[in-house]
Amino acid sequence: MNLFDVYPLNDIEIVKASGSTVWDANGQEYLDLYGGHAVISIGHTHPHYVKRLTDQLNKVGFYSNSVKIPLQVELAEILGKVSGKTDYQLFLCNSGAEANENALKLASFYNGRKKIIAFKGAFHGRTSLAVAATDNPKIVAPVNETDNVVFLPFNDEQALKDAFADFGNYISAVIIEGIQGVGGIREASVGFLQLIRALCNQYNAVYIADSVQCGYGRTGTFYSHDYAGVCADVYTMAKGMGNGFPVAGISIAHKFKPWHYMLGTTFGGNHLACAAALAVLEIMEQDNLMKNAEEIGSYLITELKKIEEIKEVRGRGLMIGIDLPEELSQVKKNLLFKQHIFTGEAKPNVIRLLPALNLKKEQADHFLENFKIALKG
Ligand SMILES: Cc1ncc(COP(=O)(O)O)c(C=O)c1O
Repeated sequence: MNLFDVYPLNDIEIVKASGSTVWDANGQEYLDLYGGHAVISIGHTHPHYVKRLTDQLNKVGFYSNSVKIPLQVELAEILGKVSGKTDYQLFLCNSGAEANENALKLASFYNGRKKIIAFKGAFHGRTSLAVAATDNPKIVAPVNETDNVVFLPFNDEQALKDAFADFGNYISAVIIEGIQGVGGIREASVGFLQLIRALCNQYNAVYIADSVQCGYGRTGTFYSHDYAGVCADVYTMAKGMGNGFPVAGISIAHKFKPWHYMLGTTFGGNHLACAAALAVLEIMEQDNLMKNAEEIGSYLITELKKIEEIKEVRGRGLMIGIDLPEELSQVKKNLLFKQHIFTGEAKPNVIRLLPALNLKKEQADHFLENFKIALKG
């Protein structure tokens, strides 16, 4: 049997990892500023994480949502506290797409409506509603096509006002990333998020903050949308939540009332997933990782802005986009194969930095030195 060949692969096998360092099968060491796509939040193989998961596995790894799982309650309590949303409710699932899918369903259950506002450049996942709200026709199958999703230009306040004026009473939800990741590290403006909040209030639509990539402390606040000073109705989260263990969730405002079987999943919130998520939050709190993400991120952004070959540096905290001119499109490959540094990318020519939140200053400096070398070819 062959693998279904959907991923273009780098010819590298990672066999060992620790913190922000990984090693390949030939013993070559790499600095990991990609974090396996913003997933590694507290560093690879963190000892507390490994111990908490191992201890849990030795007790009970999985049981379904047909029994009490106190670890879920513990997770909800800590998550509410760390995210500053103690009066929200937690639904646990397994991936970012599933989180967004459930958030969009929840909105529709809540107000009985069907229209969704999403934005140009958005990526919300690959399940049917999430992909329908994703601005990439290449990954939308015919069966996912729907008139229920309307795409508006990102950060365009007038277009948003016009849409609500035209069909506001049909709008179920507005879904937006605080910082578009796949879209090239583009931040939603404070005014735009505040306008979404105001219009959703006025029309009883649901404001969904997709925090799958930009959330979980990466930008220095728990949800990057928080910079706007207004709350969303639903926050979706995944990548950094389990430091590599598949776990996701939605944080749901008090006004949404659940009923049995309204949402559900077999694997979501299992014992191991909760142990992983708890270990992440414990380390985030203990080591003050949101502050570190903010500080090291600001340092990197300031230093990168001094490099004249770069067209633009965007982002916040440890979610950084380095927009390069086309003639420097080789830099990402150079970084990986010559300087041995993993980074992410966004089309056409943006290098994405999405490292663990405990990246050290020396590692940031190592990157800056090597980035300047990579620019030269
Ligand atoms: C903003 C955003 N939302 C949703 C998703 C989908 O997450 P998953 O791949 O876990 O389904 C992603 C994945 O890259 C993402 O970046």
